[in-house]
Amino acid sequence: MSRSTPIYAAMRSIGAYVPPKILSNADLEKMVDTTDEWIVKRTGIRERHIADKDVATSDLAVEAARDAIARAGLEHEEIDLVLCATVTPDYFNMPSTACVISDKLGIRNVQAFDISAACSGFVYGLSIAKAFIESGMKRNVLLIGAEKFSSIVDYTDRSTCILFGDGAGAAVISATEDRDEGIIDIHASADGSYADFLMTPAPGSVHPASCEVIEQGLQYVKMKGNETFKLAVKTLTKDVKEILEKNSIPAEKIDHFVPHQANYRIIKAVGDALKMREDQTVLTVGKYGNTSAASIPMAINDIYEEGRLHYGDLMLLDTFGGGLTWASALLPFAGRN
Ligand code: ACO
Repeated sequence: MSRSTPIYAAMRSIGAYVPPKILSNADLEKMVDTTDEWIVKRTGIRERHIADKDVATSDLAVEAARDAIARAGLEHEEIDLVLCATVTPDYFNMPSTACVISDKLGIRNVQAFDISAACSGFVYGLSIAKAFIESGMKRNVLLIGAEKFSSIVDYTDRSTCILFGDGAGAAVISATEDRDEGIIDIHASADGSYADFLMTPAPGSVHPASCEVIEQGLQYVKMKGNETFKLAVKTLTKDVKEILEKNSIPAEKIDHFVPHQANYRIIKAVGDALKMREDQTVLTVGKYGNTSAASIPMAINDIYEEGRLHYGDLMLLDTFGGGLTWASALLPFAGRN
């Protein structure tokens, strides 16, 4: 590939992994004051997967990454950048989970770092992979979204513990000269004035680890659910309309609308505003809950494994999460079944 030839970034493959153990709504009914009916009606979630105590975020990630690398037809040594989007890293905050994953995969001496953008992490990562590849700096990026979200959930807080699950998704993003295979566009944005809508107050430099921190439960995720819900619908609808309009792509041309799987009602409201048909919308929230940065690659992997995702299919991704952050992306799938 000569330097004068334009280079594009293509999603060559997808992979995912969920730990086997299931936490059902019936299980949660025994733990907090809730009902299966309330959870299904308000969120669409029926069950979520939870990793065992001795399993780390990197362990989930490695399983997903192995599949993604194999499906891209690459050897591990051909990966030249490892990115891991997560808010539940193996360690707060060194080494990065991306470094741990690289070591476990035997990928050595390549750049590796984490992305902290909560549920938007995978699409943020896609924009970073695109920039590295199109600038000619990297050729094969391993992009992972992985969360052991159960490690920051307070299982006595019914407003959050019903929502989240564990899992990982991974994609290989590679250089191509074929413009039709390339990522078309990505919008990624943030507004830190809403930081308190969704946060884990500790540990960090504001609240370093201490007995008081643990007693107050500051290590757990806190969320202003209803405020987040309203802002998510408003922001996502606007953002997704903008990316479609900017690229002159009508909603009916989208083969797979892959929204962040936080709440069925958010997905439905945004889908309705865009006039998306049900068969265009990928829905996995019922069986996985909200897996934060892993949710979008896990959803893409689901349609891949069901045989519904084909080379050239046009995908619209949209996501929203703590920060607050949000992002959307338009891209064809450039992997082979
Ligand atoms: N079971 C039964 N009742 C409950 C439960 C529960 N699990 N949780 C809350 N309630 C009660 C509340 O106490 C409240 O009772 P009250 O009226 O007596 O005060 C009532 O239900 C309504 O509570 P709301 O919080 O207003 O319920 P809402 O319809 O907003 O649903 C939910 C809550 C599901 C959390 C929703 O707001 C939501 O999905 N928010 C967005 C989450 C999100 O998208 N986050 C962003 C991504 S996450 C990330 O970045 C990591």
